[in-house]
Amino acid sequence: MTKPQKSVLITGCSSGIGYHCAHAVRRAGFRVIATARKSEDIARLEEEGFATLRLELNESASIDEAVARVKELTKGRLYALFNNAAYGQPGAVEDLSREVLREQFETNLFGTHELTVKLLPMMIEAGEGRIVQNSSVLGFVALRYRGAYNASKFALEGLSDTLRMELEGTGVHLSIIEPGPIRSAFRQNALKRFEENVDLAGSRLARNYEKKLAQLQSSEEAPFTLGPEAVAKALLHALKSPSPKIRYRVTLPTHLFFWLKKALSDAVMERILKKVE
Ligand SMILES: NC(=O)c1ccc[n+]([C@@H]2O[C@H](COP(=O)([O-])OP(=O)(O)OC[C@H]3O[C@@H](n4cnc5c(N)ncnc54)[C@H](OP(=O)(O)O)[C@@H]3O)[C@@H](O)[C@H]2O)c1
Repeated sequence: MTKPQKSVLITGCSSGIGYHCAHAVRRAGFRVIATARKSEDIARLEEEGFATLRLELNESASIDEAVARVKELTKGRLYALFNNAAYGQPGAVEDLSREVLREQFETNLFGTHELTVKLLPMMIEAGEGRIVQNSSVLGFVALRYRGAYNASKFALEGLSDTLRMELEGTGVHLSIIEPGPIRSAFRQNALKRFEENVDLAGSRLARNYEKKLAQLQSSEEAPFTLGPEAVAKALLHALKSPSPKIRYRVTLPTHLFFWLKKALSDAVMERILKKVE
């Protein structure tokens, strides 16, 4: 008799890393439940043969509906959750309103946390499960004009490290992926948030924002950008290995900053980070 397929829920599958990983995880033999927000994205994912869910991380009601549907679709046996959905809010810290900062946390931290803890009992009851967090190189190094995103990903890393230790003995493993630059719709989405939520012309830093805008509008890739398959490789290891890693560092910049941070003093490290646009 063939073994039943294990189910993996992946959030944020409309584009980029989530979309690519949905395909890669399915090819690896898992049943993928893909989430998106817009009807056209859900329809497209369904046409591609995925089980889909509408999920808006900023709304508890949407999370509750999604969790109920996951229970139905999996008969209460979800194997893994890939918390991928998130966005980057650019802007200097002094130009971020409380509301804009809160929204960044609503998606990248609070919604992600709520979804995780509502799905977790199924995994604990089954005595096995995988939670994989899509963090970032910006989850451990800070860069100018990325304060909101930095804060949300640093927080995600802290919360995740604690949760992993608390899950000891349950059979549920938690891994963190830290990608550097990856080809996706991330920049276009960040550009939208930048223009909508920051007073670009009225800022003390208006001149610096011109450069930042040009960078976000440019089709030129950041150095050492990789395709989303680099993240999929880490994700598949985290899903399949009997001993998944705590952290998966993806792209050269992530490895480089990891080692520099270990080796250098705070002051020298900061001098280097201030050179990064
Ligand atoms: N690309 C990079 O260079 C890079 C580097 C490090 C880490 N990451 C991380 O990788 C993950 C995926 O990003 P990506 O690069 O693939 O960017 P992306 O193409 O912009 O994809 C982001 C996904 O998240 C979804 N999303 C955003 N806000 C949401 C919300 N409130 N509720 C539900 N879904 C929401 C988006 O849905 P909509 O289409 O509906 O907006 C989209 O499906 C993120 O966690 C990001 O922080 C990316």
